[in-house]
Amino acid sequence: MLRFAALDWDPLLRAARGAREAAYAPYSRFDVGAALLAEDGEIFAGANVENRSFGLALCAERSAVAAAVTAGRRRFRALLVLTDADPPAPPCGLCRETLTEFCPPDLEIRLVNVAGRHRDFRLGDLFPEPFRFAPRG
Ligand code: THU
Repeated sequence: MLRFAALDWDPLLRAARGAREAAYAPYSRFDVGAALLAEDGEIFAGANVENRSFGLALCAERSAVAAAVTAGRRRFRALLVLTDADPPAPPCGLCRETLTEFCPPDLEIRLVNVAGRHRDFRLGDLFPEPFRFAPRG
């Protein structure tokens, strides 16, 4: 089992908890909070935002990425995702692909549930072969 000893996850957990309280998930009733740690130490949180057209749901992880990028951050060290799932739920495929745009394969990902259980991964383990795009010319 992976262990991330050096990182203080408490501020990320608090940020994810706050974001999760703001989740807008009236259709699935599955509230998600995410917190992304930028390389400069700033934390950016995101919640899932659903829509009556179900396919438009925005995941908490991509919401956090958008908040961070909007604030000018593009380099990250860690991500925490908080749900009430047991075992703690991992990011969906769309979010994994999105994370690979900005995060290294060794990005530390901690999945936590409200009961306090957690699972640790590296982004490269969850998504080893991202799409690669080399523009011509
Ligand atoms: N959801 C996330 O926020 N993150 C994920 O990685 C998977 C799913 C949200 C989307 C939707 O609002 C709800 O969870 C149920 O799919």
